[in-house]
Amino acid sequence: MFSQVKISLSEIVTAATVAWVAQVLLGKWIKAKHVARELSSCPPTSALTLFNPFRPISLAIGSFYPFKNQLGNMFARFSLYKKYGSTCLVSATFWDAIPTYWFADADALKTITSDRFTFMKDVEAYETLNVYGHSIVGQEGTEWKRHRAVAMNAFNEANNALVWRESTRTVNKWFTQIDAVPLDESIDLLRDLTRATLLIIGSAGFGRHAPWVEDSSSLSHKVNLSSAVEEATAQLLPRILIPKFIWNAITQNNVYIPFFKPVVDKAQDALEVLRGHMAEIISEARSRLINDEKDNEDGAALLKNLVEANMMTFEQGNEGGYKSLTDEELYSNMFMYYLAGHETTAHTLCFVFVYLALYPECQQKVFEEILKIYPNGVPTEAPPSSYKKILPQLEYTSAVLHESLRLCPPVIRLVKLAQRDTILKSKRFVMSSKGNIGSTEVVDVPIEKGAMCVLDILGLHMNLIHWGNDVEKFKPERFIDTPHYTWPRDAFLAFSGGPRSCIGQRFAITESVCIIASVVRRYEVLLPQDVLAMKLEEQERRLLDWKPGMTIIPANARVRFKKREI
Ligand code: HEM
Ligand SMILES: *[C@@H]1O[C@H](CO)[C@@H](O)[C@H](O)[C@H]1NC(C)=O
Repeated sequence: MFSQVKISLSEIVTAATVAWVAQVLLGKWIKAKHVARELSSCPPTSALTLFNPFRPISLAIGSFYPFKNQLGNMFARFSLYKKYGSTCLVSATFWDAIPTYWFADADALKTITSDRFTFMKDVEAYETLNVYGHSIVGQEGTEWKRHRAVAMNAFNEANNALVWRESTRTVNKWFTQIDAVPLDESIDLLRDLTRATLLIIGSAGFGRHAPWVEDSSSLSHKVNLSSAVEEATAQLLPRILIPKFIWNAITQNNVYIPFFKPVVDKAQDALEVLRGHMAEIISEARSRLINDEKDNEDGAALLKNLVEANMMTFEQGNEGGYKSLTDEELYSNMFMYYLAGHETTAHTLCFVFVYLALYPECQQKVFEEILKIYPNGVPTEAPPSSYKKILPQLEYTSAVLHESLRLCPPVIRLVKLAQRDTILKSKRFVMSSKGNIGSTEVVDVPIEKGAMCVLDILGLHMNLIHWGNDVEKFKPERFIDTPHYTWPRDAFLAFSGGPRSCIGQRFAITESVCIIASVVRRYEVLLPQDVLAMKLEEQERRLLDWKPGMTIIPANARVRFKKREI
């Protein structure tokens, strides 16, 4: 008896598909391995990154993949560079075999950030930020120049003075809330500082003076502006993760796709709510401009510049140096300034207050510095002129901010694509048995057109060649020049560098230093009670913990505030 072997058509198709996919993947793998091995200038030469480190999947799985000790791990800091004795590491992406150069080297990174024609943004990777249209953040070339030119002169000294005044005003509102909290209760820094920084960009950037708590029912909008910005921001992740064709099918062709439909609808809804708020702010600004109201003291230059550029025709814009914005660009830029103007600063300040609680001796120095300036306590109003006088005196406070930005930079890495073949310099080094850097040697790294160059900002900040053996330690003094020491400017890239560096750097520093000094003047910053019994390392691990997001997000930043007697 023979039993007949039956093979159905579907089984044949399945087998053929599997074989085809396997062959494609194997082909990709062989090619990527080959490319990786060719990159002989830097170790490790055969590393692959399974996912492009700057595309959506990597962002979504960044907290656990790539694993520890693999290239691209978000928590690796300087460890792999140290392991291979090189400030440049290479890999290739599995999918398109893109050669990838990872740099934690001040000189190489300075060259990359200075030369915006050779090293350009990976514009496609920023595509998902263009929810309303194009903006300064995701553009390159002459398009970027136009966006930057529109906003640039709003970030001047007069605006910094306004930022100082609004920060003082806002921190006073926060005091009222803090004073009502019992001493044994810790404060959720992320929640409060997000609120404070949103209020400050709202007033100093967009001329909108809102109270600490907005009564949503009295407004003409479904939700208040702060919530609208936060909601819209939260919707960027689903937008990044959902494939574009699915997104467009739902939003443009109204196709019903189970599971995705409610997620997309919710995101669209949040973006529309924010658009409503922005429309109102814009129309008010427009009528002020039409009625030619003179800039009053509250004049928010950023909003004025953006709206003015939108009111110009393209030809008019070109005359005055190519400055006009379409409606889409106006909305998109506004959203980006709201977003970039608060999130990074809020997250940075979370880490700062935790560090101050962890290092009371540093906090004491901040206190002594601000006590001299405000002997009678923090004023409720600060005249804008006080900015110019006070900020330069807060040298140590500013160093605390920078040291915190070094250890916890909100943007831990960026990427640029090489537009032509070129050569960068990196360092090879050996470690002595005592854990010191032994000898270093400068080597050429040939970069081919199309390669990815990673600005490993956190890696750079943890590079002991630039910062010394105590690189892991919180030590604000390293940002203070002395007759024998100048701090290594090029080894600090929290705000990126060169022509594409952060446009709001001075804004952020002014705002942060004002908040830190004012809070420390009024309160002693203390650790939460539940960590008091732990060792310092354990306390740091707990309170400074972060998770990757659009920028790094503090996971557990809490402190207690105790009102000072004097
Ligand atoms: C501690 C606070 C801040 C940090 C660490 C920070 C960091 C950065 C970094 C690393 C970049 C480069 C991003 C890239 O190349 O894709 C950047 C760009 C930018 N930042 Fe900031 N930022 C901060 C605060 C601010 C503030 C307060 C504003 C606005 C008021 C702002 C507005 C922008 C804008 C518009 C860009 C794009 C600039 C361009 O491409 O020409 N940032 N920021
Ligand atoms: C905005 O509204 C939400 C929800 O109604 C509320 O929880 C929040 O406190 C409000 N935010 C501000 C800044 O007033």
